[in-house]
Amino acid sequence: MCGIVAYVGAKDAAPILLEGLQRLEYRGYDSAGVVVSNKGLKVRKVKGRVADLAKVVPARFKGGLGIGHTRWATHGVPSDVNAHPHLSADERVAVVHNGIIENADELRAKLEADGAVFVSETDTEVLAHLIARTVEDTPSLEEAVRLALKSVVGTYGIAVIDGQRPGEVVVARNGSPIVLGIGEKEMFAASDVAALVRYTRQVVHLEDGELAVLKADGFHTFASGGRETAKEPLTVDVEAGHYDTGGYEHYLLKEISEQPDTVARTLRGRLDERFHIAHLGGLNMDARETRSFRRVKIIGCGSAYYSGQIGAQLVEELARIPADAEPASEFRYRNPVVDPDTLYVAISQSGETYDTLAAVQELKRKGGRVIGIVNAVGSAIAREVDGGIYLHAGPEVSVASTKAFTSTAIAFALLALHFGRVHDLSPADGRRIVDGLAKLPDQIEEILKQGDHIAELARKYATNPSMMFVGRVRGYPVAREGAQKLKEISYIHAEAYPASELKHGPLALIGPDMPTVAIVPDDELLDKNLTTLGEIRARGGNVLMVGHRRPDAKLADDSIVVPKNEIELDPILLTIPLQLLAYHAAVALERDVDRPRNLAKSVTVE
Ligand code: G6P
Repeated sequence: MCGIVAYVGAKDAAPILLEGLQRLEYRGYDSAGVVVSNKGLKVRKVKGRVADLAKVVPARFKGGLGIGHTRWATHGVPSDVNAHPHLSADERVAVVHNGIIENADELRAKLEADGAVFVSETDTEVLAHLIARTVEDTPSLEEAVRLALKSVVGTYGIAVIDGQRPGEVVVARNGSPIVLGIGEKEMFAASDVAALVRYTRQVVHLEDGELAVLKADGFHTFASGGRETAKEPLTVDVEAGHYDTGGYEHYLLKEISEQPDTVARTLRGRLDERFHIAHLGGLNMDARETRSFRRVKIIGCGSAYYSGQIGAQLVEELARIPADAEPASEFRYRNPVVDPDTLYVAISQSGETYDTLAAVQELKRKGGRVIGIVNAVGSAIAREVDGGIYLHAGPEVSVASTKAFTSTAIAFALLALHFGRVHDLSPADGRRIVDGLAKLPDQIEEILKQGDHIAELARKYATNPSMMFVGRVRGYPVAREGAQKLKEISYIHAEAYPASELKHGPLALIGPDMPTVAIVPDDELLDKNLTTLGEIRARGGNVLMVGHRRPDAKLADDSIVVPKNEIELDPILLTIPLQLLAYHAAVALERDVDRPRNLAKSVTVE
């Protein structure tokens, strides 16, 4: 988390940095700061948003070299002092940092013993002091940064400037992303291309351990030992407009509303209506290899994990291969047994979630076969895996995931179809799934038309302090994602349970102020689900049923009816109204919908 931007060129850096930081705010938004170089360093930093920072940056904040930062606090509370950039005591060196320096306490103690005086509680300040110690005596800033990084244990994406070398920025990466942007006699660097696309489409991703020196007329990259590396620039196919709200009140509503389109993009060119199969060339796997896997293990964090649960269900049902999903954050810490007959699938919208990336790296170290389901093209996870499926859902800006969630579930349906058809899924069943997938964009459009009805329900239910979400088997991951969406953006306490487990404990919570959102598809478990609704109503609980038919008034107070698809694909459609329910509840409660408190979109720390 945290976003960093750097600029060197003939223009004034400050407006470019502020604009870039705005684009990176999804990464962290508790404080922000910029520094520009113009006969010494000039700094402004504040607790608060980038908009608050812009208010304190004066018009005469000139200088063609600068770095900026938007923060998600790890070491030290959000405050003006803890905001980045951090400067050396002589105010010669300035650093912005994304990541965590694990041995910061130890380094700080050593530096303090040497006489350094620290002003903030951050781990980053250590870097400014370390670099300042050698910057005078080393031939280049690059050398001073490299020396400092030698004593650092942890993760970082950093940008550093030296007030006495006004023409260059040094950036380095280890675990936190850095992408360089190549302009006309100007260079940029940032945590994400989002901050660059207004200025250039030509980018270069740094690898872990790499360091780069940027000057107005170009850049040089170096491996950790100092050897120069050759990098081919990549042209990114996103436009600045993709990062705008496009006339919607919030990014979240824009991203929910885009789903008929984004789902069509995920499916484009991948459905074969002749052989009823899926084309997934990015997997880099022939039929023989595809048949060789005995299990599928899916890992991801947050919403990515819940979409993985839908994925596991799809793989088991369509391909009859045992599959399960686990939070990547747990997986990596339990010394997992890596099995050669298992296919590992890592899911990540951003492609840079540290826990997921670390799990992938652990799997690769142990010889596991890993594919990725990733939205951000060229991201760290995409580069690390052996093959995979890109979502093509376009940039997702709002912290809560919606369109990427849906597209991931679609990608799993394609993967399950692909595996199914090399195993025992019949052509007839293959056709059923291909036809079902093709219908999804129009059916999502139908659900979106119910926005007003769902908004009304959201206003009614948002008055409750807590909500229960229940679903059985295919409906359970839907319930989990529904609860996740609601809690993260509305701050209403929400719990998800398998409907079958309700009577084994949580039924004790049910009462007039704990309503239940029940996921009730028309499948073979319909009667069981209706019985559960009866049990909830008998305990005085209100029920909002999300399913395929209007319920009996005895069983539910309210309902949202969604179009029916194939039973295996229904979970994808059942999730959409829950996104709208959470969105409208958050709006009713006047929450910061796109930037919920305490969270960040890309969690690049452990
Ligand atoms: C964070 C976000 C979640 C997201 C998760 C995984 O926790 O707040 O919305 O689902 O990271 O992100 P990824 O980019 O790996 O899908």
